[in-house]
Amino acid sequence: MTKERVGILGLGSYLPSKVLTNFDIEKMVDTSDEWIRTRTGIRERRIAEKGTATSDLATRAAKIAIKNAGLKATDLGLIICATISPDMSFPATACVIQRKIGAKCPAFDLAAACSGFPFALAVAEGFIRAKMYQYILVMGAEVISNFINWKDRSTCVLFGDGAGAAVLGPARKDGNYIISSFLGSDGKQSDFLKIPAGGSAIPTTKESLEAGLHFVQMEGSEVFKSAVKTMSEAVTEVLKRAGATVDEIDCLIPHQANLRILNAVANRIHLPIEKVFINLDRYGNMSAASTAVALDEASKNGMIKKHSLVVIVAFGSGFTWAANAIRWGSIV
Ligand code: UT7
Repeated sequence: MTKERVGILGLGSYLPSKVLTNFDIEKMVDTSDEWIRTRTGIRERRIAEKGTATSDLATRAAKIAIKNAGLKATDLGLIICATISPDMSFPATACVIQRKIGAKCPAFDLAAACSGFPFALAVAEGFIRAKMYQYILVMGAEVISNFINWKDRSTCVLFGDGAGAAVLGPARKDGNYIISSFLGSDGKQSDFLKIPAGGSAIPTTKESLEAGLHFVQMEGSEVFKSAVKTMSEAVTEVLKRAGATVDEIDCLIPHQANLRILNAVANRIHLPIEKVFINLDRYGNMSAASTAVALDEASKNGMIKKHSLVVIVAFGSGFTWAANAIRWGSIV
């Protein structure tokens, strides 16, 4: 065991089986498959069945990640769940997951919207480095479909449900390890992407419900511009901290919001698009679950290879942005 390095010991993901295609959405709002595909790259997304909570998806992903790490739930020292669609305002969804997987450790949620998973990886790495905990379960999980106005074509075509999980711990011999992380926030832009009501600022009332203030609201073009800028800067900064250059990236795992954003980021940092992992065509934007699920899929589909330099990068409401540089090993 290489004590000073923190690695991802196991990964897992879970997607609901129900598929909602662009053609299905054509029947719900004034939109078209052509518009959605050309403006976003999305073809379909997964939607959780009625009655399914974020903790249900996260629990499925977590069990796989714990098994893949060769551990038991009782080995965990801490659980962090990144989500913007918690089961309830409180308790933390991480506490519900703790009960469902049979863990006994502390658990809390992390609120960094779509950047939640790379934020949580950085937090977990710090705790393990500080030797506060040995094994930490980190999840990005969303049933965001319950927070979408399915009559608003400007948002309802974009999002999907899912969950991804990673178990972190002291890096194993020949295993992967996190080289560097970078986190950013800008609260001046917090109005561009939000769910306005349901918190202490605008408590839920008959009026707030009638005005649809409990649904996701977004200034798409403002979010688009900032996403390109901050994700490009985050990649550059995390590489600088890792002592590496863009040419050395083997696989970029970006937040999956819009194919045009991914193309623009790749152009800006001069990275061939072939090195960018893309699954938004199948899942849409799963907020905090996006990079978590993408990392799991890229590690299994051969895009991430032994010794690859992997960079995770995300952007989201807050605004927040984050990146992690990981040197892959022979063990996942
Ligand atoms: O996860 C957090 C990060 N989120 C993001 O990164 C999302 C970033 N933003 C985006 O991906 C894009 O801004 C959108 C996909 C949301 C929108 O694309 P856009 O090219 O910025 O379109 P727009 O908002 O400027 O709208 C262009 C037109 C408008 O019509 P007019 O005003 O030009 O007549 C919209 O009403 O497209 C219309 N429109 C639609 N038309 C058909 C908006 N949504 C739709 C729709 N179907 N679903």
